[in-house]
Amino acid sequence: MPENGPEGHREVRRGATRLDNYVDRYAARTQGMTASEIRALFSVASRPEVVSLAGGMPNISGLPLDVVGGAIHDLVRDNGAVAMQYGSGQGDPGLREQICDVMRLEGIEAHPDDVVVTVGSQQAVDLVTRIFCDPGDVVICEAPSYVGALGVFRSYQCDVVHAEMDEHGLVPEALRQAIAATRAAGKTIKFLYTIPNYHNPAGISMSPERRPEILEICREADILILEDNPYGLLGFDDEPYRALRADEAEGVIYLGSFSKTFAPGFRVGWALAPHAVREKLVLAQESATLCPPSFSQLAVSAYLSNHDWKGQVKEFREMYRERRDAMIGALEDLMPAAARWNVPDGGFYVWLTLPDGLDAKAMLPRAVTARVAYVPGTAFFADGFGAQSMRLSYCYPTPERIREGVRRLVGVIEEELELRATFGAAVHPTLRRGYEAPNTDLT
Ligand SMILES: Cc1ncc(COP(=O)(O)O)c(C=O)c1O
Repeated sequence: MPENGPEGHREVRRGATRLDNYVDRYAARTQGMTASEIRALFSVASRPEVVSLAGGMPNISGLPLDVVGGAIHDLVRDNGAVAMQYGSGQGDPGLREQICDVMRLEGIEAHPDDVVVTVGSQQAVDLVTRIFCDPGDVVICEAPSYVGALGVFRSYQCDVVHAEMDEHGLVPEALRQAIAATRAAGKTIKFLYTIPNYHNPAGISMSPERRPEILEICREADILILEDNPYGLLGFDDEPYRALRADEAEGVIYLGSFSKTFAPGFRVGWALAPHAVREKLVLAQESATLCPPSFSQLAVSAYLSNHDWKGQVKEFREMYRERRDAMIGALEDLMPAAARWNVPDGGFYVWLTLPDGLDAKAMLPRAVTARVAYVPGTAFFADGFGAQSMRLSYCYPTPERIREGVRRLVGVIEEELELRATFGAAVHPTLRRGYEAPNTDLT
């Protein structure tokens, strides 16, 4: 665009540098889309000498790339004209049938007509929010909650109301109170967003005993549930948990994903929705992308048909269990007694609460200098809470690196505790409550 051009887009001021000449023109909804202050630190954290316990990238090093490559070769040779063409806005019918087979493992009986394929389950969160939420509407979320969903809710100008969790997941009484307080304030609740299995970031699963109670509360209060379940098949013990959707078809939208059970690069996820909602989701999907990518869908479909994908998921589970054990073992051996953490029964994450008076966000630069990274708890709250906590991911580094990462982290915490003991609380005066925009890089 020319300088001082006819539309005046480009503005060069003498003596003043504006980094973004469009700053006054963005829609109000972009105000929630600011980069987190910790983003810059993470470019440092991705250096090889840093043990990153921060990222939530699935560890796909065990995938049989030759088999996947062969399947993609065959797909292009035998069905390339379809794979490289536009497809249905709702997604490939064959894949939707296979998705119903996958969901049956969690007790869900569904019809392929009620499935909408999306660009990862992330897009499903976006589409559901798009069709339900006006600015100022409330979404109830667990405390803490998935940073990428909080980012979506902010971008649609929703208000997030958090409800507490304990070791059995979302606390029914906290949910009741959140509903009552929100309604008493005259606000409209559009849905409850919950991650019942191997929660990101809390590492907690909702107990089977609690699930009917949560369903009952929402049924009674007429609140839709958005059940986000990308980790459901990655449990370390026994059978998968029964999905909320398995016992409530009308009041639940269920989201699934192949990102953690196969590979995130295909960007294939889905929503299973009540019939009428499904129609709106397809319209929203068509306006967002015309259709989900045919190539990715058919590649995932070929993988599910021709490969022992359940055997591969079992291998993933064993690999993640070994890493979970490495992290929990290192925490038990090394962490100061005043720190607390949970032992996840699946998924990727441990939620650690620091000894009183320590601030995970303030400590992060010192941790990165000590060559270990984590995500401060404040990233997972819409209201600035979480400063004393952090999310530790064990999914990606090797068990040896995990132990080394915990050793470095413990060194930093002990130094902080020593400084506090020497100089008092004034060294780290804040357990700040200021809002920090979620960093959607940190899935
Ligand atoms: C809870 C949760 N929901 C949704 C997603 C998005 O996953 P994808 O879009 O890759 O399916 C993630 C990714 O980490 C997640 O942890």
